[in-house]
Order: sequence, then structure tokens, then C-alpha cells
Amino acid sequence: MRIPYIVGNWKMNIGFDEAYDFLEELNKIYTTEMTHNIRVGIALQAPLLVPMIAEFYDGNFLIGAQTCCDHLEGAYTGEISPVILAECETNFCIIGHSERRQYYNESDEAINTKAKLLLECGIEPIICVGETLEQFENNQTKEVIEAQIEKCCKDINISECVIAYEPVWAIGTGKSATSKIAQEVCHLIREKIRMMYPEDADNVIIQYGGSVNSKNIKELMACEDIDGALVGGASLKIDSFKELIKYGD
Ligand code: PGA
Repeated sequence: MRIPYIVGNWKMNIGFDEAYDFLEELNKIYTTEMTHNIRVGIALQAPLLVPMIAEFYDGNFLIGAQTCCDHLEGAYTGEISPVILAECETNFCIIGHSERRQYYNESDEAINTKAKLLLECGIEPIICVGETLEQFENNQTKEVIEAQIEKCCKDINISECVIAYEPVWAIGTGKSATSKIAQEVCHLIREKIRMMYPEDADNVIIQYGGSVNSKNIKELMACEDIDGALVGGASLKIDSFKELIKYGD
């Protein structure tokens, strides 16, 4: 049974005070208002990991990072080691987000290495894949996604990973993929994983991300191969995030 998993990605937004108020409220909502079984996570800016995990260690949600280094230690100025993330008790880490691929040249090979190192450190990787608008319009989605899955998920314990399908053209644009397209690609991802890891494919959590909001969440979550969402904009305010995590109520 795949338990739905909704993760808010705050990106480079939200400071200490706002984060504290948001997470306190989230905890309250989770304990008093939730009627369905769901995992919820928030990926915040790295300096917030220590104070927020200390404060909400017993919270009903998971706290994660947005990227990490593809080395465990050494002369990599400015990078964040999976080891230090583990020492901070970080639950999960997003890797391969399209903004990291686009602005920081993160490659499929580096994402694969990061996934392995995170797993070694006991942190759940959320591996993002997705095609650009140009690739989508040229009908290259299948080949692009399959190649990304093949490279990013090579030789890893896939049962401990989460995959996020995030079409680049839908991120922050207000232009969400239709639930039909999202389902088709998430299904394609599951079938590709099945070819690589036949025993695990049915248990892997696959999220959809890209302009998820309170209006489309229900329809997306009703799709057979969509097990959750990776949410940017709509995760920045507790009221809109609350509507998302309560989609099933
Ligand atoms: P968005 O971002 O929900 O603002 O489109 C999604 C993401 O980047 O994970």
C-alpha cells in the first residue's frame, strides 16, 4: 500500500520566524484536523534545518533539505554534505530539481551519486525528473524521462527513494499538466522502474509537481500512479498548504 506523500518545497523563501509559525500551525492541523493517512514534508533552506528539527522533532511531519553535495566530505566550498544532513536528523532531501539542473548544471550522473550517498546516510532522496517545454512540444517526453530514470536511479535501493515527476514547463508557471498527462508520465516512470527493479515498482512513491494547487490536487491524487505532490508556490502559505494536505477530507 502506497501512503500518499505531499511535500512543500519552500525554495529560497521563508525565514526563521515565518517558518516557526508555519510549522507550529502545520503540527496543530496534523494532530487535530487530519482524517486520512498521509505523509507530509517541508523542504526548507538549510540553515533552518537545525532549529526547526530541534523544535519539531516530535512533529507529525518530515523536514528535509533541497539539495546536497555529491561528495561526503572535502574541499567543496559552499556545498552541504549528506553526512551533516544526517547529523541534523534531516528526513529527506530533494535532488535533481529542475532549478538545480538548469541554474547549477546538476547532471543525471551527479543526481545518481547524490541518491547513493543520501541512502548511505539514511536520508530519503526525492529524485526529480521532468522534460522541458521544448522537449514536451517535440514529443520527446517519453525518451527524456526514461533516460533520466535510467541514469538517476541506476544501482540504488529504489524502495527507499521517492520519484517526483516535474515537467519543467509546469513549474512556477501556473500551467499545471492535466491529470491525464501527469498520470501517463507517472505510469511511464513506474513501468521504467519495473524494468530496472521488478519487485519494487509497485511500492515506489511517485509524486507529481508543477503548479499543484487546491483546485487540481484532488484530481491529481485520484490518478492511479500519482502518490503525492511536490509543491512550490502553494506551500508558502499555511492556508493553501492546508487545503492541499486535506485534499481527501
Ligand atoms: P510550483 O513549484 O508548485 O510553484 O510550480 C513546484 C516545484 O518546483 O517543486
